[in-house]
Amino acid sequence: MKNPVRDVIVACDFPSAEDVLSFLAKFDGRPRKPFVKIGMELFYGAGPDIVRTVKKRGHHVFLDLKLHDIPNTVRRTMRVLSALDVDLCNLHAAGTVAMMQAALEGLTRPDGTRPLLIAVTQLTSTDQTMLENELLIPRPMAEVVLHYAKNAKDAGLDGVVCSPLEAKTVHDACGADFLTVTPGVRFADGEIGDQKRVMTPAEARKAGSDFIVVGRPITASPDPVAAYERCVREFVEGEDA
Ligand code: C5P
Repeated sequence: MKNPVRDVIVACDFPSAEDVLSFLAKFDGRPRKPFVKIGMELFYGAGPDIVRTVKKRGHHVFLDLKLHDIPNTVRRTMRVLSALDVDLCNLHAAGTVAMMQAALEGLTRPDGTRPLLIAVTQLTSTDQTMLENELLIPRPMAEVVLHYAKNAKDAGLDGVVCSPLEAKTVHDACGADFLTVTPGVRFADGEIGDQKRVMTPAEARKAGSDFIVVGRPITASPDPVAAYERCVREFVEGEDA
């Protein structure tokens, strides 16, 4: 994918290929096709064909498999994902700079093109106590997240997954072109659910997010197309909520 621009990625957290395809059929005939996130549940359940099918329908695909293994294994796996022609994929920055560099080598096709690659810094399910007591990292979370983002930048990656609240700090440290892909987005008048720190699409735009990842506010809406198009108006086109 070349020259990424601000976009809304729909987290298609469905258990089967049938579910995701009937969801995407609702967007047929609309002017804009959603950028689709395929996560572990769907990929492991439905297999790699789901990526090919969704791509064939004309959607960009973010394959969210969060790789974390030795560099050689990650290099070889990324080669497979690159051949699947995903647009965006990811790994854990905790795998080290060497692993991230190996991933980029694996992703890069003979003609020099490759999918975009972003890193997970620290999962939002990890809190400060877990960081210190279980992972034995005695530093403030914000400092760890920023340090991992800088490692990803040094390794040559395109960006990180982070909270919209961290987008500005990441851009300040890693540059305006370093992508921030941010979940935890809710409408001003919507349910928060299990997300703790949320922003509206309009706020995420102001915070400098490049992509928002939105799941249930769209997938669980009685009118998913209207919810998606509202996200696009607020986040991509800059309409106030
Ligand atoms: O339904 P909801 O909008 O909360 O979905 C957010 C999506 O982003 C889910 O697919 C979730 O797994 C993913 N995600 C997240 N927080 C992270 C990383 C990924 O919510 N830190």
